[in-house]
Amino acid sequence: MAVTGVMRPGHMQLRVLDLEEGVNHYKNVLGLVETGRDAQGRVYFKAWDERDHNSLILREADSAGMDFFAFKVADKATLEKLDADLKAYGMTTERIPAGELLETGERVRFMIPSGHAIELYAEKTDVGNGMEYVNPDPWTPDAERGIAPVRLDHALLYGPDIEKVQKLFEDVLGFYLVERVLMEDGKTDLAIWLSCSHKAHDIALVRHPEPGKLHHVSFLLDTWEKVLRAADIMSMNKVSIDIGPTRHGVTRGTTIYAFDPSGNRFETFCGGYQPYPDYAAVTWTWEEVGTGVFYHDRKLNERFLTVVS
Ligand SMILES: [Fe+2]
Repeated sequence: MAVTGVMRPGHMQLRVLDLEEGVNHYKNVLGLVETGRDAQGRVYFKAWDERDHNSLILREADSAGMDFFAFKVADKATLEKLDADLKAYGMTTERIPAGELLETGERVRFMIPSGHAIELYAEKTDVGNGMEYVNPDPWTPDAERGIAPVRLDHALLYGPDIEKVQKLFEDVLGFYLVERVLMEDGKTDLAIWLSCSHKAHDIALVRHPEPGKLHHVSFLLDTWEKVLRAADIMSMNKVSIDIGPTRHGVTRGTTIYAFDPSGNRFETFCGGYQPYPDYAAVTWTWEEVGTGVFYHDRKLNERFLTVVS
């Protein structure tokens, strides 16, 4: 097996101000599949082509934002090894028992220097993607319901000390730097895109004074046409669009940023290239940061740098 260690983003728990309003957005507009509700009142979703039980969990709260973002690791032995490696690195880890999240095994949680709770886990029940494992059809009706992304893909987090986060993710968790944006001094990173896989990014961070903030959670679509269809569906449903459809210079993905009813930014995107760990990181200079983030407009909008949840 070539994919070892940390495999991919697995789940995010998101706070919403009104649960049923949030459920309507993520289920009927974004088109995720509701897979369960727990005794705490949390609601669980997966994208149609994901096989594990859940990837997005909504919790009603007084403020929007992210509770935690988790990565699935290869197996239980890997989970034990990474917990030990994190402790040896000086991190404090916490064990969350199996079943605390529906259909999810034991989780290892730790706070990273940017002020975000990150989790690792090895087990989540395979409920399938609605197709058979023998002689499957190519898609199901859920693939055309709402925007219908194929998976939760990555998150962009805002917080301080992102160079410490990069070192932790590279040295302990096996990630590598794919792209970066430099600050005005030409040395310090304003933003970093990190991958644990063959994807252009599994997590990205922007330097920001306030810790623990969410810039966006991102969902993958297959094609540019589906990005345009997503924009139509957002407009039909009066979703507040931040920017797009457009293209990022960074990663070359095509994108729309928009807000859920609670003000959490989400992205529907497609494309981007597929790097390997031996690729040299791509650098964007301060002068071209606008082009890097929004390739067509070639300038940032104020919201990109200031509105987070
Ligand atoms: Fe993104």
